[in-house]
Amino acid sequence: MEIIKSIEKLRKVLWEHRKAGKSIGFVPTMGYLHEGHLNLVRQARKDNDIVVVSIFVNPTQFGEGEDFDSYPRDLERDASLCEKEGVDYIFAPDTHEMYPDGAPLVYVDVLKLSDHLCGRFRPGHFRGVLTVVAKLFNIVMPDRAYFGKKDIQQLRIIMQMVKDLNFPIEIVPVETTREPDGLAMSSRNTYLSPEERAVAPRIYESLKEGFQIIKDGERDATKVVEHILEKLEAIPGARPQYVQIVSWDDMQPVKELKDGIYVLATAVFLGPARLIDNIRFKIEGGDVDVY
Ligand code: PAJ
Repeated sequence: MEIIKSIEKLRKVLWEHRKAGKSIGFVPTMGYLHEGHLNLVRQARKDNDIVVVSIFVNPTQFGEGEDFDSYPRDLERDASLCEKEGVDYIFAPDTHEMYPDGAPLVYVDVLKLSDHLCGRFRPGHFRGVLTVVAKLFNIVMPDRAYFGKKDIQQLRIIMQMVKDLNFPIEIVPVETTREPDGLAMSSRNTYLSPEERAVAPRIYESLKEGFQIIKDGERDATKVVEHILEKLEAIPGARPQYVQIVSWDDMQPVKELKDGIYVLATAVFLGPARLIDNIRFKIEGGDVDVY
């Protein structure tokens, strides 16, 4: 495994592999890797000849007052985890390498799909994500790129970017990896105190309860959302930012659940951490299934 910090060097190395007919799988991350990231890496390792993991805490996707400075970083530990998983290259550029002129003058942006959920509360966040992912795609030029369903709105928006801007890249969604008690793994879980960590699984439990109500036949989205909100508000120290059910197609909130694909999602502040989780599901006739 090689750690590469320069765009030019990475391009050269990958060009040789491409010329030799090798397929390239790419896992973009902000580092401080956990099992969730590693499951993306494992899937990429299965599907491709060459695996590239990028580690870059991208300043353009953090808003003012967000955790860019305190975001956990440990390249050495990340590198040893990647090596164990058979990663071929880590791309770990510094900020100057990615943004030599400071903040860019040209961005990739998204309409509509970022109106709700996290997009509503983090203005500019998805613009920053899309811009850096587009840059990384142009640098790595992978055949496949791997994204977690944990960040479901990000996944939806990146799938749309690839379609609308004709990136010749297959986006591979990967299931959310959870702790044994159900908490979705996140680099931000490190911000939790032991007390907060102990109650954090109740976020996913609340979503699951809402999902069960839908399975039992409830089709009024507002009722489901209200039930979940009540559960979340009862968690000591938790401040829910949103609970919404949106349709997968346009990421707009729905009132009545009909046949279709939906995302039930929440963001909750727990102490200093902002935690997100979701359940994507499909309704077909009377059947409701995780999707
Ligand atoms: P980061 O939060 O480091 O996540 C990198 C990738 O790992 C994303 O695709 C994310 O969805 C996935 N991931 C994180 N936790 C996961 C979990 N518990 N289960 C499954 N997948 C999980 O997302 C970003 O970085 C950035 O926005 C990035 C795409 C790298 C652009 O800067």
